[in-house]
Amino acid sequence: MTHRIDSATLPGLTRVSADEMQRIALYPGSFDPLTNGHVNIIERGLSLCDELVVAIVHNPNKAPMFSVEERMQILREVFPDEKRVRLTTFSGLLVNYAREVQANAILRGLRAVADFEYESQMANMNRRLAPEVETVFLMAEPGSFFVSSRLVKEVALLGGDISGSVPPQALARLTAKVNQLQGKGS
Ligand code: PNS
Repeated sequence: MTHRIDSATLPGLTRVSADEMQRIALYPGSFDPLTNGHVNIIERGLSLCDELVVAIVHNPNKAPMFSVEERMQILREVFPDEKRVRLTTFSGLLVNYAREVQANAILRGLRAVADFEYESQMANMNRRLAPEVETVFLMAEPGSFFVSSRLVKEVALLGGDISGSVPPQALARLTAKVNQLQGKGS
């Protein structure tokens, strides 16, 4: 017996046929800066949806290394021609933004066990706020399991080699930023 899932039976979705339905996923994050782990999640996430909205959070309570515009620039440089990736920024509640862009799902990457608690809290709170938006997790690839924006910045500031952890476009900006912060400006 086959089960036909009609969009009319799914809560929160408009009445369109399955053929017409665009699957939109929202990948939110700080991306301060973009790492190879993020790039991998974006590339794999594209196989799960028609359009992937990559959204940089604007959080006035955080002091990022890169401005939202700088982070956006890195994303634009890394994904210049990918028509199905929409690069945006947002502030306020994630679920409100998910509804605004009509996302069916929120995409997040999972690395070590340490991510699990934080991510499960967020996913459950987001589900309580917006039950129609599923959170979907992709397990980080082995090469990115230990890579985080926080560690990348720390290692870069201390003069370590982070070329294996970030795309070249982010590396160039990180090097320039570290030089600027350490007064070695060019
Ligand atoms: O890359 P990050 O910093 O781990 O991303 C965290 C992010 C942006 C997903 C999270 O901070 C977020 O959703 N911020 C928006 C504010 C919000 O909705 N907070 C309640 C989450 S339950």
